[in-house]
Amino acid sequence: MKGIILAGGTGSRLYPLTKVTNKHLLPVYDKPMIYYPLQTLIDAGIKDIMIVSGRGHAGHFLELLGSGADLGVHLTFEIQEKAGGIAEALGLAKDFADNGGVTVILGDNIFEDNVRNAVETFKQGARIFLKEVPDAGRFGVAQIKSNKIISIEEKPAVPKSDLAVTGLYIYDAGVFEIIRTLKPSGRGELEITDVNNEYIRMGEMDFSLLNGYWSDAGTFESLFRASEMVRSMGSGT
Ligand code: DAU
Repeated sequence: MKGIILAGGTGSRLYPLTKVTNKHLLPVYDKPMIYYPLQTLIDAGIKDIMIVSGRGHAGHFLELLGSGADLGVHLTFEIQEKAGGIAEALGLAKDFADNGGVTVILGDNIFEDNVRNAVETFKQGARIFLKEVPDAGRFGVAQIKSNKIISIEEKPAVPKSDLAVTGLYIYDAGVFEIIRTLKPSGRGELEITDVNNEYIRMGEMDFSLLNGYWSDAGTFESLFRASEMVRSMGSGT
């Protein structure tokens, strides 16, 4: 199983913090943001990891992380020319995936849970990780019926549940064929929610509920909260 960290996008919601650096290099308590998703993949037993970033400051990721040898992993870097969406960024990892399954994590997502078991037991289709939140409308929101996901809505005005779809996904190699068929959404992006709804339509989507702390860190409030949470957990990763 290979791992992919998606660290493209513009970081516009964090401007001017992101005027001269990349969002994923900003501090979350005592470490640069990208250390956390990287550690989540490492804790899941994944050693071959691609980082997809945008053009701005891409060299800084290399300077920060190098080959990955210090962390006992092998890192590969890819560039997303424009912020065309999470699914577009994932599509750039097709050759890297080499017809195998991939665990994908968003570069601004911070997890407490260890997902090693889910990664090791994954066989086919897709698996997403849900978290009960008070503000589901900020996220992809899953609707569950009889312990099955029946739909995901991206940032709905009226959420059908309080279950946010977190930025951690496991896919089989079929994901790249699904991405190839996507059309840009209203906001001009290839949406990961469209990918996930296709797996739901095919009856191949599983889910896990997260028990531990989870936050994104892409807004001032969530970035601040993420730092507080990491600090309250005792230390960084
Ligand atoms: O945080 C979880 C949420 O992430 C999910 O619940 C949503 O379903 C999913 O669409 C996403 O929502 P956001 O609107 O918060 O995503 P955002 O545009 O902030 O991008 C999150 C990360 O994805 C970002 O830190 C880097 C990566 N990304 C994003 C875009 C738009 C890319 O690598 N390339 C991109 O073009």
